[in-house]
Amino acid sequence: MACLICSAPIPPFMSFGRMPIANGFLTREQFATEYFFDLQVGFCESCGMVQLTERVDRERLFNETYPFFTSTSSRMVKHFTEFADEIRTRHLTSSDPLVVEIGSNDGTLLSSFAKAGQRHLGIEPSSNVAEEARRRGVQTLCAFFDESLAKRIASEHGPADVLVGANVMCHIPDLHAVAKGARVLLKPEGVLVFEDPYLGEIVQKVSYDQIYDEHVFYFSLGSLSRLFEQYDLEVYDVRPLEEHGGSMRYYVGRKGRHAVSSAVEDLRAHERALGLHRRDTYETLRTRIERSRDALKDLLVRLRKEGKRIVGYGATSKSTTVTNYCGITPDLVEFVSDTTPIKQGKYTPGVHIPVRPHGEFSARYPDCALLFAWNHAGEIMAKEPQFRAAGGRWIVYVPQVQILS
Ligand code: TYD
Repeated sequence: MACLICSAPIPPFMSFGRMPIANGFLTREQFATEYFFDLQVGFCESCGMVQLTERVDRERLFNETYPFFTSTSSRMVKHFTEFADEIRTRHLTSSDPLVVEIGSNDGTLLSSFAKAGQRHLGIEPSSNVAEEARRRGVQTLCAFFDESLAKRIASEHGPADVLVGANVMCHIPDLHAVAKGARVLLKPEGVLVFEDPYLGEIVQKVSYDQIYDEHVFYFSLGSLSRLFEQYDLEVYDVRPLEEHGGSMRYYVGRKGRHAVSSAVEDLRAHERALGLHRRDTYETLRTRIERSRDALKDLLVRLRKEGKRIVGYGATSKSTTVTNYCGITPDLVEFVSDTTPIKQGKYTPGVHIPVRPHGEFSARYPDCALLFAWNHAGEIMAKEPQFRAAGGRWIVYVPQVQILS
């Protein structure tokens, strides 16, 4: 297997075994034809990029059945409203500016520009979410972003002030095409600003559930800097975020066009201290992941032996890695509660736990709720005081396996 960034050979440091599509919620009739692949992750000692070493075709992942709608989480809607405000005040200072978003989903971020009458364009390959964005008045092209699309957009709309991506860059195997596209599309002082789950957080929290088919890359400042410098681009600012269990926002411009903030040097020092540039860091991570798996499985088995009912909370894509890697089957977790209509009535990928509407959770509280959507813990716990009051207990596994008292 060769590195997607620099072509050096990369042996995987971890294999999670046979894995289905993380967002592949399915009906009973589809069980027999379910697709599986080997989920393995590797570290490139040459360029520092952590990445999947076997990938799933993008058309299998991003298509008309894509079940993720950004707007289903009130916290994410608030986050994107604030992100849009930051883009507007910090980067859209020219007259009649243009903002282009890669992977614009249901238009949650761009709707803010659409409402303000500002020029915007979303690029979204999954047709069902793209259609939803259009319904909301967000101009959307159903396509994958690359250099030739960037050229087309530049000729039709003119150069862009901002190219933005939220939880999408790490999905794109050909990042060279994105870097080239950014150079073609952006004005000389234009900015590529994007955010993704941060490798440093995954290593520190052992949040291995971020590792799944859609996430081809696990970014660090070090690995991204090396990629962008090949295109005379540089990361000139960074901002840590709480979203998705710990993300990083990167600000990239043409080299020398923007003052490099002190946050960039601070993050470089942090990454050196964490050892993100060393292979042994990832060997240690594998051992910690194995321990986490054993602790979670042991806890669930013990609770079931004690006769406790356990229900999953949030049919997240990342929980597909946890349930399949740990062997969490319907005999351990009765069903998963989720508010997304398209997931309800289906089964979770691989282990086939039923997904049910939230009403079934609240109608008869279980003894324990396994918090698969741990990245929304604050929002969820704040709205479930009655579960706790009824004697229910939350089980979490990041940063460690525990029953919250
Ligand atoms: P998300 O955080 O996007 O995780 P992933 O990227 O791993 O899919 O998904 C959250 C899921 O949890 C989504 O299916 C909606 C569901 N959910 C609830 O059921 N109730 C809630 O209160 C929240 C916040 C989310």
